[in-house]
Amino acid sequence: MSNDAFSRRDFLRTGATATAALVASGNYAHAGGYADKLKVGLVGCGGRGTDAARNCMDSSENVEIHAMGDLFQDVLNGSRGNLKGIGTKYNVSDDRAFFGWDAYKKVIASGVDMVILATPPGFRPIHLKAAVDAGKNVFMEKPVAVDAAGIKSVIESAMRAKEKGLAIVAGTQRRHQGDYLETMKRIHDGAIGDIVAAQVWWNQGGLWLKNRQPSWSDVENQIRNWIYYSWVGGDHIVEQHIHNIDVANWAMRAHPLKCTGIGGRQSRTGAGYGHVFDHFACEFEYPGGVIVTSQCKQQDGTHSKVAERIVGTKGVSNAQSSIKGDNNFRYDGNHKNAYVQEHTDLIASIRAGKPLNEGVQVAESTMSAIMGRMACYTGQEITWEMAMGSTEVLMPQTVEFGTMAVAPIAVPGLTKFA
Ligand SMILES: NC(=O)c1ccc[n+]([C@@H]2O[C@H](COP(=O)([O-])OP(=O)(O)OC[C@H]3O[C@@H](n4cnc5c(N)ncnc54)[C@H](O)[C@@H]3O)[C@@H](O)[C@H]2O)c1
Repeated sequence: MSNDAFSRRDFLRTGATATAALVASGNYAHAGGYADKLKVGLVGCGGRGTDAARNCMDSSENVEIHAMGDLFQDVLNGSRGNLKGIGTKYNVSDDRAFFGWDAYKKVIASGVDMVILATPPGFRPIHLKAAVDAGKNVFMEKPVAVDAAGIKSVIESAMRAKEKGLAIVAGTQRRHQGDYLETMKRIHDGAIGDIVAAQVWWNQGGLWLKNRQPSWSDVENQIRNWIYYSWVGGDHIVEQHIHNIDVANWAMRAHPLKCTGIGGRQSRTGAGYGHVFDHFACEFEYPGGVIVTSQCKQQDGTHSKVAERIVGTKGVSNAQSSIKGDNNFRYDGNHKNAYVQEHTDLIASIRAGKPLNEGVQVAESTMSAIMGRMACYTGQEITWEMAMGSTEVLMPQTVEFGTMAVAPIAVPGLTKFA
């Protein structure tokens, strides 16, 4: 796909700043045609979903968590237990609490105005499509797919949401964080001159592992331990490092054109850890030949660094809060919780009848990370056109509990690009 065909950025650039102005003006109540109370449904009631429901309730007046759904009853019950007693904004009766494969359909059909999609990312394209088809506004966690087919579906849904006047905000929360917004505005206004290079990092130790229970089928185990299986989680360059790659795309106002990389699995090698890598290092080339280097790892006992660094002809910025060079800057504004602010901005845009739509933007950032994974798994240079044209479908069309072999661990040079 050409760069042009995939760069409908005009409406993406409206961003949170425009919404903040609407909120400040106070002119948004009821304007979106919604009843006083905005009813919200949660799909995926794990750690982030439960917190996102909380963030949503904290963000705005007249919102109600109205329905919840998860694949697993025990997780659903745990999340309901966590949210119970939080106040009147939590109002999920037993008949609006669902579990099973069609829980998302039941949440969407429960009379909600908006859904929070917080399952593992493999399911996101399916759930987003169902939500947009049903005319629901969406908050969706990043990443938004694990393969090119999923990305194309998300882009289609995002474009349809725009036609229908529905809002989509994504969980790339740095885009709603005061310090990042102010610093990035200055970068875009030329404070560091022309960008000539950047570095992005998400280096940390290992994550959680759930011990397989005798009653779990292969599929149940892989979904419960989704971060270790690319078909449902995308691998950590996609699942976690997307945050920093998204900042690079934001600074560059573009997605990378090609990528090379190296990676592997050295310290997290046990069978319980599926087939994903524990480290990646990529070189992304952006328009104008600008090189963005990227590192991410999940290796216990190694150094941690989660950051970005943007280098320009007139200065250097950490993208978040400071600029050093011709135009020195240090952010001293508000430090509102970005996990709350993203819901504030989303709901204000819905009420204003000026829906934010971050669907294509987050699809591009997810695809950039997928391109990095493809480069590292295969050891080949991968262009944007190759990545978007990839026929590799990781996420099955239908999933049911049963046997499922663990995908082979990729070996650069032997694993073929598909
Ligand atoms: N923005 C951030 O900073 C941030 C932080 C953490 C996680 N996340 C993202 O949030 C998402 C969820 O992560 P998490 O940490 O909450 O994981 P989790 O495992 O705690 O929760 C995921 C939940 O989804 C449920 N689920 C799986 N498949 C389902 C399906 N088909 N239908 C309904 N429910 C299903 C699981 O049972 C589980 O309860 C991921 O995409 C992750 O990348 C974002």
